Amino acid sequence: MSDTKDFSSTRRETIKLGLLSSVAALSTTTMSNVFAADSPLPLITKPIPSTGQKLPCVGIGTNSFTIADVPNLQNVLKRMNELGGVFVDTASAYRESETAIGSALDSLKMRDKFFVSTKISGGEKDEKKMGDLGGVKSFERSLERLKTDKIDLLMVHNMLNTDGLMPKLQEWKKAGKIRHLGITTSENMDHGQLVSYMKKFPLDFVEVNYSIANREAEDTVLPAALDKGIAVVINLPFGGKHEENLFLNNQRVLPSWAADIGCSSWSEFLLKFVISHPAVTVAIPGTTKMEHMESNIRAAHGVLPDAAMRKRMAAAWNT
Ligand SMILES: NC(=O)c1ccc[n+]([C@@H]2O[C@H](COP(=O)([O-])OP(=O)(O)OC[C@H]3O[C@@H](n4cnc5c(N)ncnc54)[C@H](OP(=O)(O)O)[C@@H]3O)[C@@H](O)[C@H]2O)c1
Repeated sequence: MSDTKDFSSTRRETIKLGLLSSVAALSTTTMSNVFAADSPLPLITKPIPSTGQKLPCVGIGTNSFTIADVPNLQNVLKRMNELGGVFVDTASAYRESETAIGSALDSLKMRDKFFVSTKISGGEKDEKKMGDLGGVKSFERSLERLKTDKIDLLMVHNMLNTDGLMPKLQEWKKAGKIRHLGITTSENMDHGQLVSYMKKFPLDFVEVNYSIANREAEDTVLPAALDKGIAVVINLPFGGKHEENLFLNNQRVLPSWAADIGCSSWSEFLLKFVISHPAVTVAIPGTTKMEHMESNIRAAHGVLPDAAMRKRMAAAWNT
């Protein structure tokens, strides 16, 4: 991806509407015009505070990507990009995910059309667990697997050895090997530590867990991100894959007023809630399925709920 590319538009018209959150902007785009065949709604993008580059608000999480599934993943990623989605979240620790993404994007010749984010594993403190794959070796291996010489975003996975790794990340950013840097967690109990690092280091991004059913980050990480001007990636927007998955045992009926914010499914409703928080830049729901990806990217089109609507959405979920 080139340094100057703005994913929001080639023919951008930013429309300010009262019902939008203060940070979110609507833009028409070439990519969303492809989506127009399904839905004539504009793509929602938000700027990365440190660079101003605009990112479409929904991407994809890939910790279930496998090499055997590359033909399907190629179709999923290609279609996602046609619909306006660009953000692909992976990690050195996600078994075959980086290799599958590298292979898919290389075959598609579409590396430049995506914003690829990966995570560095451990380092000194984590050596026992990672063997020789932590720290610098983890990053070298990511470049190789992703078949690229530049990563759009590199984050310290689960904050492991953040103090030790941060000087390296800063050096790689200066050298142009990574375009942005950050740190991640997916546990509420880590949010306090994450906020401390947000105050300590000049971060471009943090990645954190947040969903309509788990809103702890609203009191900790999200206000700190607004205060420090740090972009936020949301993992586990559906509560994760396991017993806390929000689709499991969900007996609720989608409220009829969900149509007012363009939602025709729970996945759109849950994602619109997450991305309408003013601090949130992009959500990365995990899937390998075309149908799920399409529904998820649909949430990044149309309008965002305002504060009053967000309250109504949370109340509807809580019943
Ligand atoms: N510490 C960290 O940095 C960290 C930790 C955890 C996760 N992550 C990242 O965050 C991403 C997201 O997390 P996650 O995948 O664990 O949890 P998630 O996105 O909250 O939920 C994924 C689950 O929701 C299902 N799903 C996705 N789209 C759906 C749709 N439209 N309708 C119905 N079900 C749908 C998926 O099923 P299908 O597979 O059947 O679609 C999967 O079971 C990961 O892939 C990873 O990239 C980062």
